[in-house]
Amino acid sequence: MSRKELVIVDKIEKQAWQLLEDAIVYYQGRPIGTVAAKDSLEFPLNYDHCFIRDFAASALLFLIQGRYDIVRNFLEETLKLQPKKQLLDAYTPTKGLIPASFKVVSNNNKEYLEADFGEHAIARVTPVDSCLWWIIILHAYVKATKDLKFALQPEFQEGIALIMELCLATRFDMSPTLLVPDGACMIHRRLGIYGYPLEIQALFYTALRAARQLLICAGDEDIVIGIDNRLPLLQNHIRYHYWIDIKRLNIIYRFKVEEYGQSATNLFNIYPDSIPYADLATWLPKNGGYLAGNVGPSQLDTRFFSLGNLMSIMTSLASEQQSQAIMNLIEAQWEDLIGTMPMKICFPALEKAEYKIFTGCDPKNIPWSYHNAGNWPVLLWFLTAASQKTGRINMAKNAIELAQTRLFEDEWPEYYDGARGMLIGRAARRYQTWTIAGLLLAKELIRNPSNLELCSFAEFDGENASQACDL
Ligand code: GLC
Repeated sequence: MSRKELVIVDKIEKQAWQLLEDAIVYYQGRPIGTVAAKDSLEFPLNYDHCFIRDFAASALLFLIQGRYDIVRNFLEETLKLQPKKQLLDAYTPTKGLIPASFKVVSNNNKEYLEADFGEHAIARVTPVDSCLWWIIILHAYVKATKDLKFALQPEFQEGIALIMELCLATRFDMSPTLLVPDGACMIHRRLGIYGYPLEIQALFYTALRAARQLLICAGDEDIVIGIDNRLPLLQNHIRYHYWIDIKRLNIIYRFKVEEYGQSATNLFNIYPDSIPYADLATWLPKNGGYLAGNVGPSQLDTRFFSLGNLMSIMTSLASEQQSQAIMNLIEAQWEDLIGTMPMKICFPALEKAEYKIFTGCDPKNIPWSYHNAGNWPVLLWFLTAASQKTGRINMAKNAIELAQTRLFEDEWPEYYDGARGMLIGRAARRYQTWTIAGLLLAKELIRNPSNLELCSFAEFDGENASQACDL
């Protein structure tokens, strides 16, 4: 890098750190989180809230910097917002749930936290991912501080146990995956992802791995047994039923249908004509593959969803071979998946009738915009972590190179539009905190590869699960 370029990079980083500092939310004089965006728009909607999922990138950065207090305060305060009792009233949040977001409000000179469990959210979407992110952040905190005692406090053990009970409860289906409504995760609007979306399954798997380590010394037998039973089932289910590569596509293409009983090979009765196999056969490189977006009854969503695929690599939900194949695909289809701004939230976009039916004609989710295949800079840190885990660091370096100057010049937008991410998102906020934190975190991961340990897991070893506490 030339001297001039180094000066620019230094300027970008300095600004990003300052903006992150400015995004910190204070509650009764203590830092407790970061605001979603600091855009000066007249209508902040809920972008002045601290979102649990958005805070994950900031939390990891604060932990890397040794600023443990912010993350500790965040964990303590959000835990207090978790309902501990089940009221038989449909409008009260379920026991164990963690809100999507919260905000500090003042009344009569007294500050308190106002939480949103989806009851204020646009379209009233349920935040399933928040409780999973909460455990993942807690696990990272314990790893960074080596303070296992923090998580062993009774109120934290109760909090983790309530989340596990909520997730492990038997429901109306018999599947190791988690059944959720549409818009239950980062994709916070209807986009045809109801059922068993990959993002939730990857977060669920990560939260189970994290909870397994945090609960281990507490002796909560039933839950620990439940986690140990679920982990291998979930892992096998995802590795087998979600996997798509040329070999698998050949099998799916010639699937028998309407099979009944134990000997069925096409377990979910996927009709081959529902799969865009011609497009996939040209798009998939020989050595590439990925995990599908969703698998359910007669449903195989073949869209590529980045967060779920990258998280599966980071946490060894995908096998080593599959992880390499996913990275091969990203490398081979760089233009489609990274384009000019890392990286697409999903690919390809829903268009025409599909767009209308699956989004409900949502103008924010028109093809190649926002959740419908927009480019989201926050995904840069997931890409970097996955690159590191698979030893493909140059891919991350190239992606960072693409993003940094543009993000700075464009004032840190929330997302970009267009097939290649050339346009600043039509309704994108500027000074979006997880965009800023995403770039900084990607750089910190490159600078010190050991930071990856905060958010990654080695292959699950069921045999030694009881000694898994390597915190
Ligand atoms: C959007 C995103 C959601 C994010 C929120 C705040 O609604 O879909 O994932 O948490 O903005 O940034």
